[in-house]
Amino acid sequence: MPETDPTTISEKHKWLKHRYWKLGHDGVFEEALAELYEVDDDGQMTAEPQRDPLTGETRGLMLLGESGSGKSAVLKRALKAVPVLTDVKEVEGGNTLYIEVPPEATIKSLAEHIVEKTDYPGFDARVGAAERWEVARHRLKLTGITTLIIDECHHIFRPGAGRDILGAIQALKHMLQSDHAVALVICGVPALREAILKEETGETYRRFDECHMTRTLQGSHGAQLFERCLLNSARKVGIEVDANENFAERFLFAELGQTGRAVRLAKDTLRRAVTKKRSRLSLADAEWLFIKSNGRKEMTPFHPGDWVTVQAELNAMGWVR
Ligand SMILES: Nc1ncnc2c1ncn2[C@@H]1O[C@H](COP(=O)(O)OP(=O)(O)O)[C@@H](O)[C@H]1O
Ligand SMILES: [Mg+2]
Repeated sequence: MPETDPTTISEKHKWLKHRYWKLGHDGVFEEALAELYEVDDDGQMTAEPQRDPLTGETRGLMLLGESGSGKSAVLKRALKAVPVLTDVKEVEGGNTLYIEVPPEATIKSLAEHIVEKTDYPGFDARVGAAERWEVARHRLKLTGITTLIIDECHHIFRPGAGRDILGAIQALKHMLQSDHAVALVICGVPALREAILKEETGETYRRFDECHMTRTLQGSHGAQLFERCLLNSARKVGIEVDANENFAERFLFAELGQTGRAVRLAKDTLRRAVTKKRSRLSLADAEWLFIKSNGRKEMTPFHPGDWVTVQAELNAMGWVR
């Protein structure tokens, strides 16, 4: 069905909210993801995890990036865009479980979190971590889940009393080893990688491939895609963007190239233009939103005037977000 353009303010807001900006990270991630699975005779990825012929082990993938780089957005998009992976939340009998680790989670509570998603009642407090993870693996097997995605995985590696970093590394490794080993995607800030490297043998680390959310640099292909997405979204909601005002560069500069954050600021600025019934994107709106989340600054990247001059000024004053 062809998409009709949103017309009312609320339709435009809704459209903007759900609009994914395809910026290149998704392609890189999906390619790395496909490496975890068998392919069919057309060379297409299947949902069957690839196993080592000798050990039967599967592989993992870690997606790493700073907070706000857009990791969760990439994961959720892959779940929708990769046809063979079906989200258990969306599809009865789906083969992929996506979980987000809450900040306070421990390795014990995470196992519980997983089994609850498979309609298991949960554990008595006395049941230890090893047993819980064994049950979790068994539940995944029974429910036909072959891919486990653990977002915000770095939370289980926080140091502190009652926290067991080596136990957490073991739990991840076992997900790749049991008779029902899954394709495992873990996602988090770069400290996640450092945490897994704490295991002296490096055994768990070597079972994971890596995919990094890099910053979008000025003048890069990613920056061009960002600008294209901005212009497309603006056109869709009926907002003009003045090419002389270099909005795309300003959003990326303001968020230090952190793509997800820059997308959010750009979308929020579009949203505000829609709310205020403006005909064109406004530097003042972008500045207002930027100050709202970062505090007042002497000068922001949305300062009126020629962008080259503004940028030179910001650099000269050693501007930081
Ligand atoms: N490609 C994208 N298209 C649309 N929105 C995005 C995109 N990337 C990130 N965002 C938005 O930017 C914000 C931060 O991204 P998020 O994926 O939560 O980052 P992270 O998980 O790395 O902390 C979220 O509000 C998200 O919806
Ligand atoms: Mg996230």
